[in-house]
Amino acid sequence: MNNVDAILQAGLAAVAAVTDLVELEQVKARYLGKSGELTELLKQLGKLPPEERKAAGATINVAKQAFEAAHNARRDALNAQKLEAQLAAEALDVSLPGRGSVGGGLHPVALTLERISGLFRSMGFEVADGPEIETDFYNFQALNIPENHPARAMQDTFYVENGDVLRTHTSPIQARFMENNQPPIKIVAPGRVYRVDSDATHSPMFHQMEGLWVDEGVSFADLKAVVTDFLRRFFERDDLQVRFRPSFFPFTETSAEIDVLDDKGRWLEVGGCGMVHPNVLRIANIDPEIYTGFAFGIGLDRFAMLRYGVNDLRLFFENDLNFLKQFN
Ligand code: PHE
Repeated sequence: MNNVDAILQAGLAAVAAVTDLVELEQVKARYLGKSGELTELLKQLGKLPPEERKAAGATINVAKQAFEAAHNARRDALNAQKLEAQLAAEALDVSLPGRGSVGGGLHPVALTLERISGLFRSMGFEVADGPEIETDFYNFQALNIPENHPARAMQDTFYVENGDVLRTHTSPIQARFMENNQPPIKIVAPGRVYRVDSDATHSPMFHQMEGLWVDEGVSFADLKAVVTDFLRRFFERDDLQVRFRPSFFPFTETSAEIDVLDDKGRWLEVGGCGMVHPNVLRIANIDPEIYTGFAFGIGLDRFAMLRYGVNDLRLFFENDLNFLKQFN
């Protein structure tokens, strides 16, 4: 019984020295297990003279309780440590900056389209729309281009199997709109158009915007004024030189190409225009004896190229993010 205290001190030291819960339970077994050192002492109580048993039993029980208390405290400390380590490992630093997402932006052609429709809306034009797969009637016949007419060769056409076409221009939208509306008509109609053509300045798919104003007394002077005003506002140059160069379109008479003078003194063609041909009005049930109108068609991609200084049309349709990012 003399070494109860020595056993207890050794046990407490062992408890203090363990670094994990498994070790701790092994130490406990060594002292309080079936044949643990303190358990063995209790077993030997019977060998003592009866008058010493009570005091010795009490001493061993005090030692046992001290060991258990140390064991429990150590277990709680180890559990707390374990929890803290786990929390530290799983911690999220909510103050870290986010990964960031790059803001998207509109395509340069879409930006140009929005800008141009905005300018025309401010001049009282409505925006109209039409199908990209068009019938021969609206793409050609309603525009005074009969079957087998040589003017069809002006535009290399993509045909769909049933004889429909991918519209070669936005002019069919004016034919459709006039068929369903009586004057006054004042619309612009942007959209994709298709032609068998591909190089640095031509793409098989490109964008046009049609303009149409039909009413009593609309003249070529109105056409020049509206187009010139639009161009000067678009390019933000009050002194921009605009030229109307005589040309031919089956659906307008008289017809002209629209040119603007660039910084380097070169004339650039930006569209076609003219007075709506009486046949076109007649096909749409608008009386050419009462009404006149003008129409124009401009290349939206060309306007985007000029505005942003892009020299290859194909860049617009390759979807290279490094290119497109510049317009955000
Ligand atoms: N549709 C013609 C083209 O694509 C352009 C145009 C439109 C010309 C309206 C005159 C009037 O070539």
